[in-house]
Amino acid sequence: MKPIHVGLLGLGTVGGGTVNVLSRNAAEIARRAGREIRITHAAARAYAPELEPLLQGVEICDDAFAVVNNPEVEIIVELIGGYTPALELVMQAIANGKHVVTANKALIAMHGNEIFQAAQGRGVMVAFEAAVAGGIPIIKALREGLAANQIEWVAGIINGTGNFILTEMLDKGRDFAEVLSEAQALGYAEANPTFDVEGIDAAHKLTILGSLAFGIPLQFDKTYVEGITRITRQDVAYAEQLGYRIKHLGIARKEANGIELRVHPTLIPRKRLIANVNGVMNAVLVKGDAVGPTLYYGAGAGSEPTASAVVADLVDVTRTLTTDPNNRVPHLAFQPSHLSNLRIMPMEEVQTACYLRVHALDEPGVMAEIAGILGRHGISIEAIQQKEPAEGEESLPLVMLTHRVEERCMNQAIAEIEALECVSGAVMRIRLEPLSG
Ligand code: HSE
Repeated sequence: MKPIHVGLLGLGTVGGGTVNVLSRNAAEIARRAGREIRITHAAARAYAPELEPLLQGVEICDDAFAVVNNPEVEIIVELIGGYTPALELVMQAIANGKHVVTANKALIAMHGNEIFQAAQGRGVMVAFEAAVAGGIPIIKALREGLAANQIEWVAGIINGTGNFILTEMLDKGRDFAEVLSEAQALGYAEANPTFDVEGIDAAHKLTILGSLAFGIPLQFDKTYVEGITRITRQDVAYAEQLGYRIKHLGIARKEANGIELRVHPTLIPRKRLIANVNGVMNAVLVKGDAVGPTLYYGAGAGSEPTASAVVADLVDVTRTLTTDPNNRVPHLAFQPSHLSNLRIMPMEEVQTACYLRVHALDEPGVMAEIAGILGRHGISIEAIQQKEPAEGEESLPLVMLTHRVEERCMNQAIAEIEALECVSGAVMRIRLEPLSG
């Protein structure tokens, strides 16, 4: 059978990895796909010199639209990232009747609904395994492996940079800012590292996971996003002393009154497997009603781990080229006509337990005042610890764990605590999830 012709857009970290993996494992990949998968065209402004020997015979230009419009190309692999011109390129590829493989989580989270609709209309596939958690086949698992289940919740460490930073803060007692520059130097961070540390990258991925889990349209704008920039090494250490670890989690959960979609730092019990996922590694915990909790672990970023997912999609697309478009696995796991319009819960309605760090003067009655405010808002304290004040500081940190409470009540209580004369600075609130099966 003749090789399938692939046009690669972007020869950066993931593009280079894709070239390497496709070339090194060509024979095995062809045995799996049923035919050779060959990069025939590529668009890139520059690429690493070590790719040169592997790109012999590939027609390379700097005009991605020329590749998308080339009739010889059957599958477009979009590895440029960002919204534009990635969206225009993908839509043009679809209009030209080409299948698309993309690693672009931002594009899918923001424009996936229109992209999938166009692909459906044209009978082409858009595969995006590499968009979430790098090399972990979590999209395949949610869409196919768990198809028997009602998914109850998904909780994932889905940003490698953030996890690397939190791990270093715990292991080496280092400060946030110091570790961030190291993550950037190691090549894990997004072009714009605020996407990693402010939680946007994780929110893109969570938006996709939430849609796949619950069969709802992609709704990035309704995902609650909080990053890790306010977490101090003291918080990391205090959480540890209480038996918890701070992880930056993306959580999608089905509740009676809607779907929770939220990304924020989270205390999780240290004994959970996912609490021990360290460094740049990612993990996604999925709870299905039939299967129970399942955990998927692997490298969430990096050249070849992400290429592993890109190439798996290429194999998938190649295998299913001749199938009836109506009988393919739906983009968002559920048939497009059966997507549901379940409401996304505003954060104010979400209930979680919390870790609070309050800086207060060491005076009689202070604890009673704070406890009084919490009590008036129906917030029950589970544990409270008084920590040593920092050198030269008058106030000392009080660390508390609360029972589950609606976010709205906690917001009001925090505002009142911050207004107390004896309290200085902002209250640090980190949500807590037991993640029990
Ligand atoms: N910047 C991302 C991360 C890369 O750190 O996980 C993979 O999406």
